[in-house]
Amino acid sequence: MSRPLTATVDLEAILSNYRYAKQLHPTCNAFAVVKSNAYGHGAVRVAQHLEGDVDAFAVATIEEALELREADIESPIMLLEGIFEPQEWALCVEHGLWSALENRMQLDSLLAQEGFIEKVFLKLDSGMHRLGVTKEQAPEYVKALRESGKVGEVILMTHFACADDLADLTTMKQLGYFEQTRQLIGEIGSSVANSAAIMKWSVPEGGWIRPGIMLYGISPFAQLSGAELGLKPAMQLTSKVISVRQVEAGDHVGYGYTYTAPEAHTLATIAVGYGDGYPRAAESGTPMLINGRPAELAGRVSMDMITAKLSHSDAAIALGDEVVLWGEGVPVERVATWSDTIGYELVTRMTARPHLVYRDAD
Ligand SMILES: Cc1ncc(COP(=O)(O)O)c(C=O)c1O
Repeated sequence: MSRPLTATVDLEAILSNYRYAKQLHPTCNAFAVVKSNAYGHGAVRVAQHLEGDVDAFAVATIEEALELREADIESPIMLLEGIFEPQEWALCVEHGLWSALENRMQLDSLLAQEGFIEKVFLKLDSGMHRLGVTKEQAPEYVKALRESGKVGEVILMTHFACADDLADLTTMKQLGYFEQTRQLIGEIGSSVANSAAIMKWSVPEGGWIRPGIMLYGISPFAQLSGAELGLKPAMQLTSKVISVRQVEAGDHVGYGYTYTAPEAHTLATIAVGYGDGYPRAAESGTPMLINGRPAELAGRVSMDMITAKLSHSDAAIALGDEVVLWGEGVPVERVATWSDTIGYELVTRMTARPHLVYRDAD
């Protein structure tokens, strides 16, 4: 292995976070949300490790579902946005996929096709105004699906817009709208909770929860880290120091000279850049560990390299010193705030360039 940038994924941590989500809602079934390449952790490897322990997987596209089926994943898989083209129903039938359903095209094409779909999650727009039918439309959709003979079970589903903000009562309003719709329909199963709702909001018991980001040990809340929520971080992004130099007070560093050394100090160059998914927007000061010591970004992120200094000392830094960019001791959520984004984005947009290594119990 040449360039030392490595993302080490702890598959047991992901399984343990899934079990934690289930423990919080023992009466619920739980999807493991593995869309977008399992939030950058590698969908096939993650699904292979969770297979046998999870109730079902959830993905965003049929391509993501078929990738799992090709890797011999046999658990149910749900398409969170439903189909995009009518022909996809045939693939859903062939591969035993479950699907969300949120618009007339999806309904009409499902009713027109010949096969059988075991579970359809009718998506209700309870306020986010992104996907879903209204409270008034929902009973008619449920009736049409139930009477078609082409669906085993219809479950009412919705998604929260602000569940990551514990002071915002939008989630309660959305839940109220959801319950009113359920009353109009009568007896029907439910699926409402993403990670934030699973951990901090009161959600209907007995339905299907949909944990995503929490599986990867990352907090959906700005004010709480994954560790504070009892989650185990699943990804450790590490690299090494590839060059070391002394800079004097007033020396400028990197593209655009955005960093000026306030005093003489050692400067380390590290093998990671925006070509790997490390955010170019990260500001000087973004935390990391060099050889176990707190360190921080000093200068603009390049495509393949960053520059950094120790935060509280000018101890020696040596070529080959280990750098933790995020993971144990450096929560990805905290790194994300330094580039004005969220942990979700950092792990999901990692490119294929870092070596992906798996730590598991097998
Ligand atoms: C419909 C739906 N359910 C569940 C999730 C998982 O959300 P989270 O990663 O916040 O747990 C997502 C993610 O975007 C989603 O779109």
